[in-house]
Amino acid sequence: MNNELIDIVGKASVLKVGAVISVEGRTVKVLVDREKNTSHLFYKGELVKSIVVGSYVKITKGFEELVGKIEGEFIEEDIFQSRKNYSSDAAKIKRILVVSLLGYFHDDVFERGIKELPLIDNECFLLDETEFAKVHNFIKKGDIPIHIGQLAQERGIPISLGINGLFASHIGIFGNTGSGKSYTLANLYHSIFRKYKNSKDFQKNAFFFLIDFNGEYVQDNGADNILIEAKYKNIYRLSTHTREGGDKFPIPEKIIQEPLIWTVLLEATEKTQKPFIKNALENGFVDRQMTSADVYKNFIKSTIIGITKNKDKNLEKALLVNFLRDIQECSDKMTGLDSAIQFFQDFLQYNNKFSDYYFDQNGQQTRSAENNFDTLIDQGISTIATPIDQINAIEKIRLKIISAYYNDIVRGYSNKEHLAPLISRLKTRIPDLVKVIEIQADTATAAKKNFTVVSMKDLNIHMRKILPLLFCKHLYDEKRKGTTNQQTYLNLIVDEAHNIMSESSQRESEQWKDYRLETFEEIIKEGRKFGVFLTIASQRPSDISPTIISQLHNYFLHRLINNNDIKAIERTVSYLDKVSFESLPILPTGTCILAGLVAQVPVVIEVGKIQDAYKPLNQTIEPAKYWGTAAES
Ligand SMILES: Nc1ncnc2c1ncn2[C@@H]1O[C@H](COP(=O)(O)OP(=O)(O)OP(=O)(O)O)[C@@H](O)[C@H]1O
Ligand SMILES: [Mg+2]
Repeated sequence: MNNELIDIVGKASVLKVGAVISVEGRTVKVLVDREKNTSHLFYKGELVKSIVVGSYVKITKGFEELVGKIEGEFIEEDIFQSRKNYSSDAAKIKRILVVSLLGYFHDDVFERGIKELPLIDNECFLLDETEFAKVHNFIKKGDIPIHIGQLAQERGIPISLGINGLFASHIGIFGNTGSGKSYTLANLYHSIFRKYKNSKDFQKNAFFFLIDFNGEYVQDNGADNILIEAKYKNIYRLSTHTREGGDKFPIPEKIIQEPLIWTVLLEATEKTQKPFIKNALENGFVDRQMTSADVYKNFIKSTIIGITKNKDKNLEKALLVNFLRDIQECSDKMTGLDSAIQFFQDFLQYNNKFSDYYFDQNGQQTRSAENNFDTLIDQGISTIATPIDQINAIEKIRLKIISAYYNDIVRGYSNKEHLAPLISRLKTRIPDLVKVIEIQADTATAAKKNFTVVSMKDLNIHMRKILPLLFCKHLYDEKRKGTTNQQTYLNLIVDEAHNIMSESSQRESEQWKDYRLETFEEIIKEGRKFGVFLTIASQRPSDISPTIISQLHNYFLHRLINNNDIKAIERTVSYLDKVSFESLPILPTGTCILAGLVAQVPVVIEVGKIQDAYKPLNQTIEPAKYWGTAAES
């Protein structure tokens, strides 16, 4: 025999594990050859991977080579043979492996899936190095590799993924706090930018939008190179904590004209408040009152007449003054209301006996039925200026809602008790909104950078909930309607996604929940066609809507301890095998299971390092470092 042949035969006999003894669906049992029951196998002085749970094996059936993973092993005693047939008791033991089939080799490439099943007595082998590499080659033909780390069990074996496979997919990154999710996320995007940032086409076509709830991806001062160098990034540090707010995110006017946004922002109740808002913004009545300053002033007058001549005893006496104050609060541009309020406070009186308003000017009384009454109202509002054309879009919406509110209650269309809470929310929410967004002219073509980070760290809870929705919906709609779908790419990235995608939060109204989930569910179901992909990271997969989790294509699963979270993953991630699955609670920080379409087989990887300058701001504090000298115990 020539040397080559000796090599092949020798190797085969070393790597041979045993033979198939049962086939039950995907699960195959293999009886291990007696002489292979050692802890290590050597071939030409080199250590060959031993037969352990988690190893891959190859089963040959004629020319077919089927690949599986050892999921368990057990021993059985050979009860049919009498003792005298054995040289020792140990020889009486049968070692059996439980192998789960994963795929097969075809034209020298590993393919996932079951093409055929083995037969009893087919031989089973450990994989050699090249075969092992083939199983872990996750780059489809024509795709470009991106390095993300190394195999955790076989250090030194790098793991690269195909860019098309990974980035044209919805990605989920899950794990307990401190398990390395944000780091993994940062690593992915840092790597893709390192590869492409100098490409003109990339700059033109690829957009990434990161929602950062904890301010991990923006630095408060100094050069901001987290993830990628500052020059490729637009950073918005939003804030509702100060009077002026922080950066303002540009939003087209038409977005804020949608009643739904206001229903959500104002937490409108389903039965009365929601129809009211819809009506206020869509029914043309209020719009017609706001066509010019004069027309609006006329509306003020007729509302005041309505209030003063209304015989409804339930209308509170302060209604008129509140009406004027509320108009004044809508915009700085509304002037002269103070003196009008003063006028009515000084001269307008109420007669309880007759339930009637009257003017009392220096003893001269004018009853509401008298002709002169309306002239006095004109006099009262003469100082008011309502330059409708000068107020901005948000102020206009506020004015619309306020106007509709007073109109409705004066005319008895709505009940004040039902709407008042909505109006009082309006007073706090609108100033918050103004702090964080600015209305962008339709024609504006802001220079778009490839990466946008929006820090939500300094937002109050309401804004944290509504803004991500507003932004994602806006970006998605824009992309969906755009004409360059095929080339441009949009990746919406949400770290700490449980903040907005949880299903169980009880405090919020049903429809808010629906709207929120629908938006993201639509992106996840339909986004692919329009080049929109979602990447979410979260500590609590069990909190996130199962529809969302189950539609993700690729999963980076870090350490998960809580049983509910593990179950949520078990229910939805079908790619995971039992061995990987059971290692979830014990994964070290920075190690995760990668499973999904991009990986032929689930693998445990150690995510690669990123240089310090690009790391997110998420260091775990080392208390002892700041506690001075410790006393000897
Ligand atoms: N692959 C890694 N290599 C080196 N350090 C890592 C790696 N992954 C994570 N770390 C470190 O572990 C710590 C926690 O990581 P990280 O902030 O990414 O966790 P997390 O899962 O996002 O936690 P949280 O849910 O609280 O946001 C950080 O200090 C980070 O630098
Ligand atoms: Mg994190």
